[in-house]
Amino acid sequence: MLLKKNKQTNRAELKINGVKYHLDIIEGSTGEKALDIRQLRSDTGLITLDPGYKNTGSCCSSITYLDGEKGILNYRGYAIEELAEKCSFVEVAYLLLHGELPNLEQLNRFRHLLRRYALIHEDMIHFFDHFPPNATPMSILSSMVNVLCNYYPEMSDDPLENIDSTAARLISKIRTIAAFSYKKSIGHPLVYPRYDLDYCGNFLNMMFDRPVIPYEVKPEIVATLNKLLILQADHEQNCSTSAVRLVGSAGVNLYAAISAGINALWGPLHGGANQAVIDMLEAIYKDGNDFKKYIEKAKDPDDPFRLSGFGHRVYKTYDPRAKIIKKACDETLAILNISDPLLDIAKQLEEVALNDDYFKKRKLYPNVDFYSGIIYRAIGIPTNMFTVMFALGRLPGWIAQWKEMWEDPETKIGRPRQIYAGPTKRELIPLHER
Ligand code: CMC
Repeated sequence: MLLKKNKQTNRAELKINGVKYHLDIIEGSTGEKALDIRQLRSDTGLITLDPGYKNTGSCCSSITYLDGEKGILNYRGYAIEELAEKCSFVEVAYLLLHGELPNLEQLNRFRHLLRRYALIHEDMIHFFDHFPPNATPMSILSSMVNVLCNYYPEMSDDPLENIDSTAARLISKIRTIAAFSYKKSIGHPLVYPRYDLDYCGNFLNMMFDRPVIPYEVKPEIVATLNKLLILQADHEQNCSTSAVRLVGSAGVNLYAAISAGINALWGPLHGGANQAVIDMLEAIYKDGNDFKKYIEKAKDPDDPFRLSGFGHRVYKTYDPRAKIIKKACDETLAILNISDPLLDIAKQLEEVALNDDYFKKRKLYPNVDFYSGIIYRAIGIPTNMFTVMFALGRLPGWIAQWKEMWEDPETKIGRPRQIYAGPTKRELIPLHER
């Protein structure tokens, strides 16, 4: 990991009650600087307080770089725009996991593993029958992923042993679980994975092929899905990735850590926003396209409503992923010859918001979730599966981050501190006297 002490300032000085302390300033490979507070409590007796971790780095990582002011996102040093244009999702998954793009032989071996592990144990299929018919796909996904550790207990005492096969297993099986849960939810027979189809083509086929109407796997739609999954594949220390690292740091198996990540992603402030966007656009459509009313609601401090798919903790400019997805949205709808009124509403909403002082002052722009749902909808994926799609995309990132954590000798169990604000010592009054 490229980490150096800052050459010019080297150390920061902290003065508490007249006593001076020195803190190292460390610098990342792109010049980002951080105060190293690892000795702060033992030296000064103080901790730092940072709700929401707005200013707290939880680790040093070599996987993803993002500059929220300039709108830059790179995986392992490669620009997201280039990866989305020139690579497949499987190549990018390999890149995230191994740090390098694969050569053809490495890629073929990885593809082979993905094919080999595509089935899930037949007994697991019975589990689907016991979820209520209207069960949320994200709850099914996280439960089924948790269960995988019982069927594939290869994660031994050394969490990194067999990591290549375990990663391939997870990436391949989660796709199968996602498609099976959809088929079960609509009461259709399951469609098993095929050896002759690649990762995305296989997923689409498992989702949409029917005994009575065979599904035609269109290369343009496969390309679009590859692009979307690449754009969602990693995003450094976001909520779900931090959940994977935190839960993983306790020493649980990878499946349990990923299941925690899926649950975190589910939230409407995180990956669940792609579903919330479509719900919001549909509500506006039903409300006679009165999008200005929703802009006013979003600005009203007394109204909890927020413009879904807008704003980001790190990006203070247009999310680079949203730019690519917006363009892909137009292209995909044109290919499929679909005219979706929700896309027009989304564009109008964006235009009004970007010219409104409230959004300008707070630097709120469309994020990755604003346009992605419109593409998924056009492909035929139901709204309640959108966040599952996000989970499929984010999976290689979660695994790569978990792997990096285990390879880092500095890793310790994640355990934040707090400032206690409750009652001080009290005398207990026995039950009969209360
Ligand atoms: N609509 C209206 N106002 C907003 C929005 C929004 N979407 N987002 C932020 N604000 C306002 C917020 O009310 C606050 O205003 P004030 O300063 O007057 O109190 C200000 O902007 C700063 O917001 P914050 O909540 O302190 O910012 P945060 O960094 O804690 O939250 C966020 C980031 C993404 C949770 C938030 O922007 C949000 O709720 N967006 C809508 C949900 C969404 O699209 N989530 C997906 C995020 S990107 C993909 C992912 O993570 O999966």
